[in-house]
Amino acid sequence: MTAEGPKGARGRRFDGALDPVAAELNASIDFDRRLLPHDVAGSIAHADMLAAQGIISAADAQAITAGLRKVQGQLEAGELAWKAELEDVHMNVEGNLIDAIGEAGRRLHTGRSRNDQVATDLRLYARAASARLVALIDGLRRALLGQARAHVETLAPGYTHLQRAQPIRLAHHFLAYEAMLRRDRARLIDAAERAGESPLGSGALAATTLPIDRERTAAALGFHSVTRNSLDAVGDRDFVVELVAAAALVQAHLSRLGEELVLWTSQEFRFARIGEAYCSGSSLMPQKMNPDLAELIRGKTGRVVGAWVSLMTTIKGLPLAYNKDLQETQEPMYDAVETVAACLEVSAGMVASLKIDVDRMRAAVGEGYLVATEVADYLVTKGVPFRQAHDVAGHLVRQASERGVELAELDLATLRETHPAFDEDLAPWLDPLRAIDRRDVTGGPARQQILQEIARAAAELEPR
Ligand code: ARG
Repeated sequence: MTAEGPKGARGRRFDGALDPVAAELNASIDFDRRLLPHDVAGSIAHADMLAAQGIISAADAQAITAGLRKVQGQLEAGELAWKAELEDVHMNVEGNLIDAIGEAGRRLHTGRSRNDQVATDLRLYARAASARLVALIDGLRRALLGQARAHVETLAPGYTHLQRAQPIRLAHHFLAYEAMLRRDRARLIDAAERAGESPLGSGALAATTLPIDRERTAAALGFHSVTRNSLDAVGDRDFVVELVAAAALVQAHLSRLGEELVLWTSQEFRFARIGEAYCSGSSLMPQKMNPDLAELIRGKTGRVVGAWVSLMTTIKGLPLAYNKDLQETQEPMYDAVETVAACLEVSAGMVASLKIDVDRMRAAVGEGYLVATEVADYLVTKGVPFRQAHDVAGHLVRQASERGVELAELDLATLRETHPAFDEDLAPWLDPLRAIDRRDVTGGPARQQILQEIARAAAELEPR
């Protein structure tokens, strides 16, 4: 406490200091310093509004604004130290402001509580985080689009149960991830939209007696509207849960990509190589080139999902309105956002770096009876009911595999023994490229469909 009054939050209600271990547990400055730009923006909007409403003088508001900008710059540059005894980012900023400009600084907190202040800062952070993740998602979508363009004509085995199933164009596989990320993007934008109500003016829990203008601060901070219940506004963190849930889905999608890259780069598949910038070696085995980053992207999913679980557990059962438990919603959010951001950036680089072994993929399409469905479809065109055609084709696969040959190698006599509808015209049906291009329905792997999807993605990702 200084001679002019307290700079911490406790004031003269308290005689002694907080127990040192309790102070450490109580302080949030080690993580909430991330809120600095949002806290300063919120305070500038608040001071400007106070002056416009005649609650403080215009001169004081100007001094506060200039002082806040200076303090922000000094804290960012490390010229001012963060003080743990000031507990959090809000008190650090205000304390330094008072040191810098004196009397006017003591007027900043008029008509405001740290409860509506932190609720405001966190919503601003969540909205900025959403925008950042959306931009990074688009970066990865661009990398996927690049690979899709490069591999329209590359044939690949499509899988179910990780068993070769039907042939596809490799572009279709890359575009599947683009489709997932497109939904993820929409979810993040949706979460930011719902976090777009300004809680500023809700006070500690019951708003304020002062004639503030909530719409003015909301507009200055880029919010689209104001919250409608002060208890809810200071007590709610569901916007954090939503953001992290959307981020967790992004990470789950990235983990699938990571897993496939691990598989594809294995000796067993040898479908692809990841650029050296994204691989590491072994300290023991000189030959190793490990897909560590793909594995980590897969592995980081645990902590992002954990963040969501942690948030849900924290908010569950809290009485209205603000409770200090809510401080615990900050770290999981930061960790989830920062983890997903880094994984998106690395995934984009890794996807762009991929070198596909086109010949090996094509060879894999030729082994494993991937055109068995075509045999059934062929019989259907000859009037055979699909269930029966399916059974006939299955029988032929069995015969072929017993002889150690592919379907195309079975002679007409063998085919006719199984079903009389077979004829010379079967051969083109067994061409995988034809099998693919017959699947010319919206969302299918046919060339025309793929080109349309590429054009759609390009229009979204490369405007004009
Ligand atoms: N660090 C606190 C939080 O994150 C700021 C709000 C503190 N408010 C209070 N009444 N103690 O929730």
